[in-house]
Amino acid sequence: MTATETRIGRITLKNPVICGSGEHVMTEAGLKSALAAGVGAVVAKSVNETQAAKDQLDRTNYALLDGDWNRLKWDFSAPRNATLACRSGLQTMDFDAWVEITARLDADAAKTDQYVIGSIILADLDAAVDMAKQIEAAGIRVLEFNIGTPYGDEAAGVVSTERATARVTEIIKAVCATVTIPVWAKITGQSENVAALAQAARDGGAEAVVLMGRFLGMIPELDTQAPLLGTNLGTGGGWALPMTCYWLSKSRAHLGPDAPLVGMNGVRSGEDVLRLMLAGAHAVEISSAVWTNGFGVLADAVKTVDDYLSDRGDTATGIIGRAADQVMPFGALPQQPGYWEKFAPPGAI
Ligand SMILES: Cc1cc2nc3c(=O)[nH]c(=O)nc-3n(C[C@H](O)[C@H](O)[C@H](O)COP(=O)(O)O)c2cc1C
Repeated sequence: MTATETRIGRITLKNPVICGSGEHVMTEAGLKSALAAGVGAVVAKSVNETQAAKDQLDRTNYALLDGDWNRLKWDFSAPRNATLACRSGLQTMDFDAWVEITARLDADAAKTDQYVIGSIILADLDAAVDMAKQIEAAGIRVLEFNIGTPYGDEAAGVVSTERATARVTEIIKAVCATVTIPVWAKITGQSENVAALAQAARDGGAEAVVLMGRFLGMIPELDTQAPLLGTNLGTGGGWALPMTCYWLSKSRAHLGPDAPLVGMNGVRSGEDVLRLMLAGAHAVEISSAVWTNGFGVLADAVKTVDDYLSDRGDTATGIIGRAADQVMPFGALPQQPGYWEKFAPPGAI
């Protein structure tokens, strides 16, 4: 293993930076740009069998907001603390054409030790199983199966936000029983127990668990007194990183250090990739930051991870979970009577 290599079940990634799925990888050009940035893998824009999911893409809209919830310009230089609020749809391309492109680029990517990963978002389970078979038959080496989009409650039957552990196991089992390629289960963050969902996905045979999906939000605008972009929105930002790290660390404690976890949600830089790895991620996906700031974000992240590891004489596999494994229970922390007063605002004491 080189210093930056990381293992996700049966596969080795040359570095832990993965370009996550989204509109930036809708096209062959986008997938190639992600590969050219030097990532270990890129996940293609997701497909499913419904026309409604395709139609949603023609209803997409995106807003970037600053810390005061005011709109920012869309100029590909979003500050790292910007919030991205949007609604999204799925790949509009014909499924066969999508499979052909993904398989061809994955075969090319193998020559540079990279992966182009296929991605299905669950609508109907039988249809997902059928698509998984075709993805494997085309030679695509890894499948990411997203059962935890933020939009399930807004678009029932079109995409899914699976929150019941028994159902998660059943869904993942159905796909894993059909294909032999690694299946990575991408699960929601909108759960009271993401670690239990991760366990459920592993019980179903998922080789890795990708956690976690974004949250639904609604942002009233003061001038129009209407919801931003007219509706409920998938909402994300750098502010999500602590929650992602929390659930990575909980999932690691629950599943053990060998269960491959892929972290995502809130990553805006290479430093953030490292933070998620210290929390337990074996590899890390970046999505919104590529959409808002371009493919250079990925190249920068690969370099930052490389520099950090070589400066410290560390390895990617060595740092996985290092912070998570030092989390102390509250009761084990030293008592400091009256210490809280140092933090109290004027007038409180
Ligand atoms: C505009 C947009 C489109 C997305 N499309 C997909 C998709 O097709 N499939 C999928 O699995 N996730 C999709 N996602 C979710 C991202 O892959 C990712 O899970 C999420 O945005 C959190 O990571 P981030 O903070 O790096 O963006 C999309 C996200 C955004 C913002």
